[in-house]
Amino acid sequence: MHSLVYRSVASESFTIPQIYGMLSKAKDYNAEHGITGCLLFHNNQFLQLLEGEEGEVLNLFQKISLDKRHHDIQMVESDFIPNRVFEDWSMAFHDYGQNGLSANLKLGQIDSFFQQSDAFNKNSRAVLKFFGSVKDVLFAG
Ligand SMILES: Cc1cc2nc3c(=O)[nH]c(=O)nc-3n(C[C@H](O)[C@H](O)[C@H](O)COP(=O)(O)O)c2cc1C
Repeated sequence: MHSLVYRSVASESFTIPQIYGMLSKAKDYNAEHGITGCLLFHNNQFLQLLEGEEGEVLNLFQKISLDKRHHDIQMVESDFIPNRVFEDWSMAFHDYGQNGLSANLKLGQIDSFFQQSDAFNKNSRAVLKFFGSVKDVLFAG
């Protein structure tokens, strides 16, 4: 099993309704290819964790890297994992919206998001890196 985490910046023309459109196709693809994970969106930034068989994850990431709807793709982590973290989620999505909520509220949202996934109990390095990046994404700029 393989897990990959990256960050990127949404293209200006990529709107929330379009993101939901992309996600509904992505969920079908991911379900067919045994890929699970989650995608966060905040202030035009994406943070995504993909997990599944190594070949499937790398193949999908190759397609995602070529996608013109985002840019400045930065790899955070790509590594073997013993078990899936997001077993039930073909691609969970959380839109934090724009800056407006207080830092504490945002942190509360992250905590409940991760508690729902039971991610902390799975003790995965990719998830810890992901969680660290969530904070970077939420509090950057
Ligand atoms: C931020 C972001 C995340 C994406 N996540 C997925 C995903 O989890 N699964 C998926 O099939 N496509 C995802 N896509 C869409 C892919 O980039 C691509 O459009 C899709 O795999 C279809 O590629 P194809 O037309 O070459 O077959 C994502 C795109 C972006 C911009």
